[in-house]
Amino acid sequence: MSDRLGRVLVMTPTYNERHNLESVIGRLRAAVPAADVLVIDDGSPDGTGELADELAAGDPAVRVLHRTHKAGLGDAYVAGFRWGLAEGYDVLVEMDADGSHQPEQLPALLDALQDADLVLGSRWVPGGSVSDWPAHRAALSRGGNAYVRIALGLGLRDATGGFRAFRRKILEEIDLSEVESHGYCFQVDLAWRAVQQGARVVEVPIAFVERVHGRSKMSGPIVREALWKVSVWAAALRLRQARGLVAKISGKR
Ligand code: GDD
Ligand code: MN
Repeated sequence: MSDRLGRVLVMTPTYNERHNLESVIGRLRAAVPAADVLVIDDGSPDGTGELADELAAGDPAVRVLHRTHKAGLGDAYVAGFRWGLAEGYDVLVEMDADGSHQPEQLPALLDALQDADLVLGSRWVPGGSVSDWPAHRAALSRGGNAYVRIALGLGLRDATGGFRAFRRKILEEIDLSEVESHGYCFQVDLAWRAVQQGARVVEVPIAFVERVHGRSKMSGPIVREALWKVSVWAAALRLRQARGLVAKISGKR
């Protein structure tokens, strides 16, 4: 399957995931043996980076990108994309390190990528699910996705999720230095940029399982960044549309 897609790199960002990393990488190596793995660690104080180095020492398919401090999910992924593109990978996959994204479901995402440029693992399409999330997290995710759909006119059910597969072509077309989202709003940012580039985006149902070990890094500032950025992008979009309409009416086009 991945033969036809070329070389696949699965990137997994980590901040304090010592109790999750070994199991998730083991499952991934078993589920998609042909894929390489890049752990992007932001200097986790719990020793996740050292554990990643140990795993890499025992398996040449595993590599580690060490960053000095916690700079946010978006920054970590941008660094990972740059690394993966420079190394010549054809497919770049995003996957959380806490077990919420099940490596056993990655083959379904890669299959769908045969006819797409970007495949989103989606909790909110038929067949998708979330287990063991507190009501406020589910409401935040559903509400956030509804806002993104309405504000940006983005026809996606789950634009905020982080289990996805990109073809390198679409990442090369996006100017990564323009991606200014630091937190989880990076996910919306990238989906939005991909759609604007004309990418063929497909959503595949996934079963999201809440982590057993450790804590979510979701926080108030991350939510506020997302709300603010999506609103700014929406305002810019409506302004462009209004300008287009005025130009049409006044016969300039
Ligand atoms: N390197 C790095 N730096 N990794 C980070 C950082 C950071 O600043 N912040 C979070 N991570 C890593 C975590 O260690 C984990 O592997 C992954 O990113 C997801 O973080 P969680 O904190 O577990 O996210 P969540 O479960 O609350 O959120 C999920 O839902 C979000 C909203 O739909 C994830 O699927 C997110 O990707 C998604 O945006
Ligand atoms: Mn999580």
